[in-house]
Amino acid sequence: LWTPDNIIEDSLARIRAQVGTDHVLLGLSGGVDSSVVAALLQRAIGEQLTCVFVDNGLLRLGEGDQVMSTFARHMGVRVIRVDAEERFLSRLKGVTDPEQKRKIIGNTFIEVFEDEASKLQDVKWLAQGTIYPDVIESAGSKTGKAKVIKSHHNVGGLPEEMNLKLVEPLRELFKDEVRKIGVELGLPYEMVYRHPFPGPGLGVRILGEVHKDSADTLRQADHIFIEELRRADLYDQVSQAFAVFLPVRSVGVVGDNRLYAPVIALRAVETIDFMTARWAHLPYDFLDLVCRRIANEVPNVSRVVYDITGKPPGTIEWE
Ligand code: XMP
Repeated sequence: LWTPDNIIEDSLARIRAQVGTDHVLLGLSGGVDSSVVAALLQRAIGEQLTCVFVDNGLLRLGEGDQVMSTFARHMGVRVIRVDAEERFLSRLKGVTDPEQKRKIIGNTFIEVFEDEASKLQDVKWLAQGTIYPDVIESAGSKTGKAKVIKSHHNVGGLPEEMNLKLVEPLRELFKDEVRKIGVELGLPYEMVYRHPFPGPGLGVRILGEVHKDSADTLRQADHIFIEELRRADLYDQVSQAFAVFLPVRSVGVVGDNRLYAPVIALRAVETIDFMTARWAHLPYDFLDLVCRRIANEVPNVSRVVYDITGKPPGTIEWE
């Protein structure tokens, strides 16, 4: 019977048979797939697992601490947290082209990850959160962004250079199965059912050049939007929601003062497959509340707008 329990038992046995007493390395992003792999490996081989979590400075508010608290503190997983914000931001300096930004973020991730990996002795395996749709995607003839996404997620080059073998325990599973076993393994529901977050993170949600203060502003605005969606029970009704930082300046008033500052756009979509999407028809009162909170609580934002573009013609992300 294909129940979450049976899938887990079967995976544990297979992982143990595959890696034996060897040590395994996992790049933990905090996303669903790598999180479930971490939980599975922890249960299967415990002490033989080391995770590397790279904070690229482009994560959501409090994300790094959350990953550490869930895995390191509560589950006893060995996680090395690498604070690489400066390295990422300095590489991104002066870069405005979206694909160029993706490439830089992906390559810098590989560099940082390799640096950490090379400090570890005795590692024989690299674990990856590849799921069944990824397997099909890379076998098929899809071009464009799908490939770019893959190139970011897969730690290219590393296995050969370090002579690591691949262990991919989710290779035969669909996303909904991965989620179910994640919950069964004790991961928090909110983590397992979180909206997708792109590998390049806020790097593609800050239009144009990425600056630390824009990232800080965006993190705060995004956090308010998501917090209110959860509070209004709307979070699970939309497929993906986030804020975008627009580096254009618009005039506003704060008290008696004129403010000439950047704009925040809110994006929320409903979709099954993320190939097409409808903009979420969120209640006006809800949008009003979010806008007021952002204007009041986030310094240096002059205006909040709501994106009413479907996909097509728009993509879900703005870059
Ligand atoms: P678009 O913007 O193409 O997004 O309509 C479709 C889905 O893909 C996600 N996305 C990415 N994910 N790396 C990722 O890992 C990327 O470079 C990337 N670009 C878009 C997007 O968040 C949405 O869920």
